[in-house]
Amino acid sequence: MRLDKFLCRSTDLTRKEATAAIQAGDVSVNGEVIRVERTQVHENNQVCLNGELLEARPARYIMLHKPADMICSNADELYPSVLHLIDVERAFDLHIAGRLDADTTGLVLVTDDGRWSFNIISPRYDCEKTYRVGLRDPIRGDEIDRFAAGLKLQGEEGLTRPARLEVVAPKEVLLTITEGKFHQVKRMFKVVGNRVVTLHRERIGGIQLDMPEGQWRYLTEEEIGQFLGNA
Ligand code: URA
Repeated sequence: MRLDKFLCRSTDLTRKEATAAIQAGDVSVNGEVIRVERTQVHENNQVCLNGELLEARPARYIMLHKPADMICSNADELYPSVLHLIDVERAFDLHIAGRLDADTTGLVLVTDDGRWSFNIISPRYDCEKTYRVGLRDPIRGDEIDRFAAGLKLQGEEGLTRPARLEVVAPKEVLLTITEGKFHQVKRMFKVVGNRVVTLHRERIGGIQLDMPEGQWRYLTEEEIGQFLGNA
């Protein structure tokens, strides 16, 4: 972790204040004054601020059931940020691992561990996300093979990765994808001439949404562990 981030994690300093303290020479690592805020520090390093040994607060890993008309951003815009729903200290130091559109509901993972969220978001790690999709028109059937083969989305170079489509009812499907392009699910259905009318994320990797709308909980060790592998 970067030294400035470590300071924020272990004190009440903002990132700006942490940088100022480091540049002023108030911070030492293993007894040596370090003035470069991007210096990497490790768990076993002794980091001191004005001679006082610091200890980083543990990272937080949270599941949230996002309602509609809230946004997955750290700042309020047209709609309020979902982080308002999480009543913990420094909630706005957390970030969202894989955003949902304002009108999409369902599973959102929230953390302050950037490496962990990278393993969820990066297409390199093939993390499955399952969406329950309500459609304007009934499924014809050929969509299953087309989604499995990959689709050319408007404005994209290559094809989407193979996606799994399970039909629940004529106008309701479960779609599992391993990437998260902008508006991906809505754009995939647009390519096959249909339209998404409701969208709800139920699962990310082995983490299944099990909270009522607007509620949150800390993840279990097991849930966290599945995305620590490549960290
Ligand atoms: N795909 C979309 O189109 N929207 C979302 O919110 C998530 C996936």
